[in-house]
Amino acid sequence: MKNFLLLIVLSLYLHSSFAQNLLQPELEAFYNPALRPFYFGVASGDPQPHSVVIWTKIVPENLGLQQIHWEVATDTLLQNVVQSGTGEADSSSAFTLKLVVENLEAGTHYFYRFQHEGRYSPIGRTKTAPEGEVPLLRFAVVSCANFPSGYFNAFGDLARRNDIDAVLHLGDYIYEYGSGGPRKKKKNFSRPHIPNHEILTLQDYRTRYGQYRLDPQLMEAHRLLPFIVIWDDHELANNSNVSGAQNHDPNSEGSWEQRKAIARQVYFEWLPVHDNPQRSIIRSFRYGGLAELWMLDGRLEGRSPQAKGTGDPALPSASRHMLGEKQTEWLLDGMKNSTARWKIMGNQVIFSPLNDSKVFSRDPSIRMDRWDGYPAERSEIFDFFYKNNLRNIIVVTGDVHTSWAFELTGDPLNPSKYNRKTGMGVTGAEFVTPSVSSFNFDEVVPKFVTWEAKRRFCKKKNNPHLRFLDLNHHGYMTLTLTPERAQADWFFVKTLYEVDYRFKQKGGRYIEYDGNQVKKNKKR
Ligand SMILES: [Fe+2]
Repeated sequence: MKNFLLLIVLSLYLHSSFAQNLLQPELEAFYNPALRPFYFGVASGDPQPHSVVIWTKIVPENLGLQQIHWEVATDTLLQNVVQSGTGEADSSSAFTLKLVVENLEAGTHYFYRFQHEGRYSPIGRTKTAPEGEVPLLRFAVVSCANFPSGYFNAFGDLARRNDIDAVLHLGDYIYEYGSGGPRKKKKNFSRPHIPNHEILTLQDYRTRYGQYRLDPQLMEAHRLLPFIVIWDDHELANNSNVSGAQNHDPNSEGSWEQRKAIARQVYFEWLPVHDNPQRSIIRSFRYGGLAELWMLDGRLEGRSPQAKGTGDPALPSASRHMLGEKQTEWLLDGMKNSTARWKIMGNQVIFSPLNDSKVFSRDPSIRMDRWDGYPAERSEIFDFFYKNNLRNIIVVTGDVHTSWAFELTGDPLNPSKYNRKTGMGVTGAEFVTPSVSSFNFDEVVPKFVTWEAKRRFCKKKNNPHLRFLDLNHHGYMTLTLTPERAQADWFFVKTLYEVDYRFKQKGGRYIEYDGNQVKKNKKR
């Protein structure tokens, strides 16, 4: 009897703490009561010509199974409803509802909302991918949004634009750190992480995503634009690979397998990405005849542990991988067989060879997390491009918190393989987006050091294929595609320390179709 009573008391305790955890009490103070129970808003993603994923999450009154009604319409007042239904959300996904809406028209804006027990969510807007001949596409490209580093003005600005087809988020959607990681502290500015320690448990990861998704600028961007997302390392832990991470100590933080499983589960709970049993983010998108997009997993699918430095004898080994054999084959087969004019790789870390020996001479291990740390697999990819005469390849990249444009070439320092003047050896371009808010150069070193670093990076004898570089700004990039050209533009925000929409458009680098040089756009 005593044991029985103990069991009841224990199960009541566990039940109530479980219930409290699911309702995320640490975030309650930040809920907007007008949104109840849809405090985290709505989102859409993975747009295909005839389908799109829509998402919401509720904070219910009780922990039972919850019914949520949804409707999709062609008009902002939701009078012309074309699809509707009722979905179920339960405690296993912390009351997330994510579904694929099918039988939609290609290249069309839709409006959607959810209803639970008589209360309505905000109305979301989304857009399906176009089919056939497509004259123009514009993606916004973002990465590296660290909550304690500053306001998400980049997301806020995207929500104000009406010329974006979809947002490509290339990872570091959240950061796992307690304090927010390395950065210079700004006086009188504080946006601490919740929880205030490094996230490890299922509850920690859920709360952290919840905090980010209560940010009004990110919430509004999700409400108005479809996202196509991939994770990088900080959705798990810094410098992740298949078997571990720089910021994961199995002795004090438990098994890496378990942490990966939790991080994957919570990512799929919060992001409007197509569910699948493997919780894989590897997928492709077709935008009519104009573009095809391959979204890659350079972290958890096949990545070998990072090498120790340029002198590590393991560095050139063909058995070390970034994507792994299966994913590489899928990518290269897809690119070879694609009839799209532009072939786009959505990728985490800098793909182009980057000579930083004159900049980071004291710490060569810094480049080991990039593709420079996996030279054999990268050579295999470039060799395939050259052998099959694949061109018009655009790599879009995040991770480095800074803005770059490269001519895409496998061996830029070898004059028999690449010529800056003639464009020999160029298969396309790589464009790198800055961080939404994570620290970049001038936040960790004095300004004169960033000027000198930029000068050394840009020296023709160091990096002849480098055509644009900015080390000091935050914001986002757009990639504009027409049948004739692929152009990147960078939008830099004036400040991160208040909500602010003073953005400056910079860069403007493009490559022409079948062209072999990255050029500066003169038109404004
Ligand atoms: Fe980052």
